[in-house]
Amino acid sequence: MKFLENKKILIIITGGIAAYKTLDLIRKLSKLNCEIKTILTKSGKEFVTPLSITSLSKNKVYTDLFSVENESEMDHISLSRWSDLILVAPASSNFLTKISNGFSDDLASTVIKASDKKVFLCPAMNVRMWEHASNKQNINTLKSYGYRILGPEIGEMACGEFGEGKMLEVDEIINQLEIYFKQISKNKKLKAIVTAGPTQELIDPVRFITNRSSGKQGYEIANSLVENGFDTTLISGPTNLKPNDNLKLIKVKTGEEMHKKTMELLPCDLAIFTAAVSDFKIKKFNKEKIKKNKDQSFDLDLNPDILELVSKSNKKPKIVVGFAAESENLFDNARSKLEKKGCDLIVANDVSNNEIGFESDFNEVHLFYKDKNIDDEKIPKNFKSVIADELIKKITNKFNFFND
Ligand code: PMT
Repeated sequence: MKFLENKKILIIITGGIAAYKTLDLIRKLSKLNCEIKTILTKSGKEFVTPLSITSLSKNKVYTDLFSVENESEMDHISLSRWSDLILVAPASSNFLTKISNGFSDDLASTVIKASDKKVFLCPAMNVRMWEHASNKQNINTLKSYGYRILGPEIGEMACGEFGEGKMLEVDEIINQLEIYFKQISKNKKLKAIVTAGPTQELIDPVRFITNRSSGKQGYEIANSLVENGFDTTLISGPTNLKPNDNLKLIKVKTGEEMHKKTMELLPCDLAIFTAAVSDFKIKKFNKEKIKKNKDQSFDLDLNPDILELVSKSNKKPKIVVGFAAESENLFDNARSKLEKKGCDLIVANDVSNNEIGFESDFNEVHLFYKDKNIDDEKIPKNFKSVIADELIKKITNKFNFFND
C-alpha cells in the first residue's frame, strides 16, 4: 500500500450502524501511516463516540460548524484544504440527499461543498432505501459533481433484510483508495482523446446534414477518464452540454474539422470515438440560401472515417475504441465494424430501443474485443455516467493501463 503512505485523509462519519466499521477503517489507515482527521455528524454521534475515534486517529474529532474552538484552529475551509482526499463512510441516505441538493447546514456538508479535493462516498442503508428512485437520482447527481461512489455491497443488513446497501468492506475501501492514489500518481502522463456529439455538414448558410446525438455518452466517458487521472481532450461536435472543468474541450462543427483536430492530438494512449459523425458531406457548399422553387438536388462526398484512419495510422494510440449504434443485427454489425475499422474494441449500443442510446440519459452496451478469445461483455442498462465508469474500469483493467 505504498501509494497511501503519508496521505492526509479527512473521514466524515454520518449516522448509520456501519459507523462501527469506520473505527476499524481509521485504525487500519493509521497503521498504513495515513494521517486521519474526522468529522462526526450529529446522527453519527448516536453510533460512535468522539473519544473512540480520537483514540484511534490520535487527532481531534470535529463536530460543530460554529465552534469558536474549531474556527480558531481549523475551519471548514482549512479542513478540506488540509486533506488529500475526503471519505464519507458511512454515507447515510439522508446525507446523500443533503449534499446532492447543495445543502451546507452542518460542518460535514459545508466542508464537502467548500472542498477542492476528491470526495469518495461509501453509501450504507437499507436495500429499499438504496433502490428508491430518489436515491438513484441523488447518486447520479453526485457522480455528475465528480464524486466517486464506493459500493454498497449486497448482503444481510443490520435490520435483518437482504440486498444491496451494506457499506463496502473496510479492506476493499482501503484497496480502492490505494488504486486511486496510484492512478493519480501515474496517469498524469497518460493522454486520452474522446470524440462526442454529432457533426454538422453545411448545405447552404442555413441548412445542414447531421446525425442524432446529444453528446451525453461521450461527455460522461471524458469525465470518467478525468476522474481516473487521464489528461483528457474532448473533441465535441455541437451540443448543449457543459464539460467537466478539468477537461480540455475542442469544439468543432464538421467531420473534417473533427478529423483534423484528432490527428493533431496524436499520439496518445487511449482514443475513444463516441461521436456520431455524418458519413456524408456536401460536395459543393451553396454560398447563398437555396430557394424553394430552384433545383434542390446536391451531390455528396464521404467524410473521412476518423476511427479507421486513426486505427490504421502510424501514430495509432495504444488503444483505440470505437462505438457502433446499431438498429438491427447488433452482434454481426459490431463484429464486422471491428474488423473493418481495425480498432481494439467496439462498444455497441442498440438504438432501435428509444429508452437507451441517442439523447437518452441511459444506455446499455456490448463490448467486442479484437482479441477473439474474449467473449462479448455486456454492461446492463444504467445511467450513461455509470456506463462510462464501468467502461473505463474494463478498458483500464483489460489493457493494463495501471499496471507497472
Ligand atoms: O450522444 P448520445 O445522445 O449520448 O448518444 C450516444 C451514441 C448513441 C451516439 C453513441 O453511444 C454511439 O453509438 N456513437 C457512435 C454512433 C455511430 O453512428 O456510429 P457509426 O456506426 O456511424 O460509426 C462507428 C464508429 O466510427 C464510431 O466510433 C464513430 O465515432 C466512428 N466514425 C464514424 C464515421 C466517421 N466518419 N468517423 C468516425 O470516426
